[in-house]
Amino acid sequence: MTAPLTEPDVRAAVDRVLPGVLEDLRRLVAIPSVSFPEFDRRHVQQSAELTEQLLRDCGLQTQIVSAGEGQPAVIGRRPAPPGAPTVLLYAHHDVQPPGDPAVWQSEPFTVTERDGRLYGRGVADDKAGVMAHVAALRALGDQLGVGVVVFVEGEEEYGSQTLEELLQRHRDTLTADVIVIADSANWDVGVPALTTSLRGIVNLFVEVRTLESAVHSGMFGGAVPDALTVLSRLLATLHDEAGDVAVPGLVHRPAAPLEYPVDRLRAEAGMREGVQLIGTGSLVERLWTRPSLSVLGIDAPSAGEAANALVPSARAKLSLRIPPGEDPKSAYNAVTAHLQAHAPWGAEVTVSLEADGAPCVIDTTGPAYQIARAALRQAWDGVDPVDIGLGGSIPFIATFQEMFPGAEILVTGMGDPTSNLHGPNESIDLGEFRRICLAETLLLNNLASLER
Ligand code: BES
Ligand code: MN
Repeated sequence: MTAPLTEPDVRAAVDRVLPGVLEDLRRLVAIPSVSFPEFDRRHVQQSAELTEQLLRDCGLQTQIVSAGEGQPAVIGRRPAPPGAPTVLLYAHHDVQPPGDPAVWQSEPFTVTERDGRLYGRGVADDKAGVMAHVAALRALGDQLGVGVVVFVEGEEEYGSQTLEELLQRHRDTLTADVIVIADSANWDVGVPALTTSLRGIVNLFVEVRTLESAVHSGMFGGAVPDALTVLSRLLATLHDEAGDVAVPGLVHRPAAPLEYPVDRLRAEAGMREGVQLIGTGSLVERLWTRPSLSVLGIDAPSAGEAANALVPSARAKLSLRIPPGEDPKSAYNAVTAHLQAHAPWGAEVTVSLEADGAPCVIDTTGPAYQIARAALRQAWDGVDPVDIGLGGSIPFIATFQEMFPGAEILVTGMGDPTSNLHGPNESIDLGEFRRICLAETLLLNNLASLER
């Protein structure tokens, strides 16, 4: 068995590989691997190929795999030394669309450094995750004392539609004692975190119809309801005066007694002065363990082009986040029943599901958890990691839990609360990225001692 490196040796090894890792992060971000169907699939293929090459150069046996119409995932494997545990390292190489280039301060797909941060689409979510795995493998090289299987997905941002099929097909290759999911965020710059509770998601459409087709708003307005007014009234029933979700029957849970500073939240979200927070309960309860319901979009005539006519039908996309313990299907049924019951003025209301994903809670009682905490504390020079919840969703974690019930799962952070995942000017702090790489290297180094 390979003896684990000492902590100073690990630090030195990480600092040695870091320049090359940053260079390869730049190459990876330069590939606009948006996995949505409207975008060029060849880019996702290219990022899969570069990811495969990076893993192969770490001495792993690699393959690119896909199922049906799904996007390509990369698997890299190096068997465990006798008696040593195997660790699955997860990340995704696809990214969100960049959105309006005018609101980016630099080219979305050109990594640009400003004030100690690297900017670019996917630089945090989740190409930093891919490179953190590569960094740990490079730093440890032949000294790696555990087996690893790296799984880098190519369609996480589009709902991981063929992930379950891939896990089924490659189950034997992917079976591991510990699973590291490098796709969450840390608590703050300078404070590491392990994510232990994640909300699920239910996205749905609600359409209202009042008329066969548009009619003159002066001739009929006053007696005949228009669909956009109806939709507005209906959407207004979704929250109570305090801003809590008013749909009955949804699960609420208590949250950890952690204080999210109000000013920090306001600044991180970019809330305008005078705008109030909504909901009741502690901030982390509202963000992590209670339902939230948001209107993401509306199909209706655009204001500038609207005729003087009553709108016959209108459609909204709603997004419900659900805490651990809630079932996506029953949450969807509860919202549907509420919307049907509150149809204003007898309007037709049609609800349909777009996509859903399960919430989950992570068991923190295992030995790998302790090893991970210690690695994070060392990498952040003595700062204890915080157990946090995530208001966002990583629905496939529930799938991993079902499929690999014997494995301990660790959900680690790539960005920080100012990383602006999915928005313009996504970024990662350079000092934090070094610590992320160091923590993962220490983790793999120290997991070698884990009893199988
Ligand atoms: N990496 C994110 C999850 C995340 C969100 C981490 C916020 C840290 C902060 C993940 O890629 C994501 O965006 N998930 C989607 C799930 C959806 C596609 C099913 C989400 O939460 O919207
Ligand atoms: Mn992600």
